[in-house]
Amino acid sequence: MGKLSASILAADLARLGEEVKLVEPYAEVIHVDIMDGHFVPPIALGAVVVRSLRPVTERPLHGHLMVDAPEAYFDELREAGLDVVSFHLEAVPDPGPAIRKAREAGLGVGLTVNLETPLEAAAPYLEEIDDLMLMSIRPGWSFQQLNPEVYPRLEAARGQIDRRNPAVDLEIDGGVKIENAARAIDAGANVLVAASGVFAQPDPSAAARALAEIAATEPARPTGKVH
Ligand code: DX5
Ligand code: ZN
Repeated sequence: MGKLSASILAADLARLGEEVKLVEPYAEVIHVDIMDGHFVPPIALGAVVVRSLRPVTERPLHGHLMVDAPEAYFDELREAGLDVVSFHLEAVPDPGPAIRKAREAGLGVGLTVNLETPLEAAAPYLEEIDDLMLMSIRPGWSFQQLNPEVYPRLEAARGQIDRRNPAVDLEIDGGVKIENAARAIDAGANVLVAASGVFAQPDPSAAARALAEIAATEPARPTGKVH
């Protein structure tokens, strides 16, 4: 069963607690984008936001680290109340030690892959992670259009996950809207990350509900089961 992960980057941060409460019945995960101004140009969010949000919701908080040297942040984020951390394959010379460091910190761990990065780079780590997130935009900003090149990448990743470690969540992050969500699910994603597709809608709660319903439908094609 697929699920919605609501990304707070497009929320009204002055009313963050209320915004999260609006979507929480439908968003099984709250996605927190963390940027350092080096790996991506903007700076955004971080442990102080995680700490403020922690008492507001029981939903898992998933940190998407768009930072260089991500392992430097794990302990502080865990202490602030983060549950799962994803970092970019492009940000580390060797993901192995960073994956182990995240586990030692008590975090679930995921890898995130930019559109330009060959998926094979993530393959060696599939047995060691909980989550694989494929970017469908250039990381750093909300309100971009989903790049359709992500669909065949989702199909390929779904095939590998089903063969090697079906427990891994396959997420799509960027430009997910009600109009394209079913296609992402059919391609093999089981977690839809959406920021503007939820919080910039006239009724964020209704948008979250609609996206969660699409995520929960059976994919229209067999998702890479190998016989
Ligand atoms: C961008 C972030 C995304 C972003 C998605 O770097 O990783 O999570 O919040 O925003 P939308 O859903 O508006 O494309
Ligand atoms: Zn993100």
